[in-house]
Amino acid sequence: MTTPGRQQGLLRWVTQDWSVNAGYLDSQLVLAWFRAAQWAVRHGGLPGRVFAAFYSLFTSLFWSIELPPGLEVGPRLRLYHPHGIVLNPGVRLGADCVLRQNVTIGNVVRRDGTEKGVASAGDAVEFGAGCVVVGSLHVGSHARVAALALVLRDVPAWGVCVGNPAEVVRVDDPGHRRPGAAVG
Ligand SMILES: CC(C)(COP(=O)(O)OP(=O)(O)OC[C@H]1O[C@@H](n2cnc3c(N)ncnc32)[C@H](O)[C@@H]1OP(=O)(O)O)[C@@H](O)C(=O)NCCC(=O)NCCS
Repeated sequence: MTTPGRQQGLLRWVTQDWSVNAGYLDSQLVLAWFRAAQWAVRHGGLPGRVFAAFYSLFTSLFWSIELPPGLEVGPRLRLYHPHGIVLNPGVRLGADCVLRQNVTIGNVVRRDGTEKGVASAGDAVEFGAGCVVVGSLHVGSHARVAALALVLRDVPAWGVCVGNPAEVVRVDDPGHRRPGAAVG
């Protein structure tokens, strides 16, 4: 039987992204659904894993999103236009990150069968629409990945990277980043 404490824990866990996605009900619902699946695989035993399997199938088929429940994602994740987002189960994201439509963070399997691995990102990293990040690399905190960028190498903290393959075109001064970041 579920204890009240666990229920409170579940409520807090499921709503951890809710307020930062205010005004975007679709994003709020996707993230609550994702966090419920995350909670279920960690605390729900076999029924939780069954729910998580249903979550993955339903979310892929009907929402066209792959946010695996095993992902490590910090709080206050923001989604703008939650469509076509695909994250490898090994991805790790810090707190306050932003994902826009059609972001892919994935692995590459070489012809010899070896894998390049998957990326991690620090806090407050912003991923532009349609960007693709592949390989075992790190995107530093507060970095901004441009729309349609193909990221194959590390990005420094506060870096701005654009293009295919992506290049770091600027590293912002933390005190003077131009406003207007991280909106849909
Ligand atoms: C990358 C990004 C974060 C940079 O924003 P910024 O910090 O204000 O920087 P700037 O606009 O000055 O761009 C820096 C340089 O990168 C170039 N650039 C910006 N975005 C680019 C992109 N997507 N692809 C290629 N080059 C790009 C700019 O032309 C500029 O080049 P220049 O210095 O030669 O003039 C922003 O352009 C971006 O792509 N954000 C994602 C937006 C998005 O996905 N919107 C979808 C809404 S539905």
